[in-house]
Amino acid sequence: MSTTYRIAPSILSADFARLGDEVKSVIAAGADWIHFDVMDNHYVPNLTFGPMVCQALKPHAKRADGTAVPIDVHLMIQPVDALAAAFADAGADLISFHPDASDHVHRSVQAIKSKGCQAGLVFNPAAPLDVLDWLIDEIDLILIMSVNPGFGGQSFIDSALRKIEAARKRIDASGRDIRLEVDGGIKSDNIRRVADAGADTFVAGSAIFGKPDYQAVIDAMRGELAR
Ligand code: DX5
Ligand code: ZN
Repeated sequence: MSTTYRIAPSILSADFARLGDEVKSVIAAGADWIHFDVMDNHYVPNLTFGPMVCQALKPHAKRADGTAVPIDVHLMIQPVDALAAAFADAGADLISFHPDASDHVHRSVQAIKSKGCQAGLVFNPAAPLDVLDWLIDEIDLILIMSVNPGFGGQSFIDSALRKIEAARKRIDASGRDIRLEVDGGIKSDNIRRVADAGADTFVAGSAIFGKPDYQAVIDAMRGELAR
């Protein structure tokens, strides 16, 4: 069975003075999801945007034919539950959080799902996957960090490849339909290796928004994935 790959541009590297237009441009260039990085200057040493910005962007997250493009919210915040609910109300389709940021991880997953959103768990470069022993039957997405969270434009950490392989084994053993997403330092020259390790969804911020032609970058990534 062939894998459906998804490219999720992170608007963390977009021009914040023109966010709506940036979302529209990157969707026209072929984005599958819009990756929305929420940072709180507590769990991570940076501060970005909240549910009001998500709500403002929601009407722009659609293709020319009117179909919606999922908003993939990556919460780098502590605590998790109240803001997760606010993002669900603001139009998020998928909401992921770091298990180490929640006192009650199972409860946080249920809180997201009870709002009708898909739920994901995010693993930092030095975080073990053990919590999946207890939660893999509950979640829709695993997000492996290939940089330390907090900033765009960092270099890919190679040990993430082993973690992606380990996560892929767990997903296959579960028999469930769970997306395996990777976040940090993804470019067209390493995306193939990341896919070979077992990832199917790729966040890319600076690789796309740092370049004048978004479509050329996304096409190059898809070309690598098709090889
Ligand atoms: C980092 C964020 C990433 C970031 C990736 O904390 O979670 O989504 O935007 O940026 P690049 O693709 O530039 O590494
Ligand atoms: Zn992210």
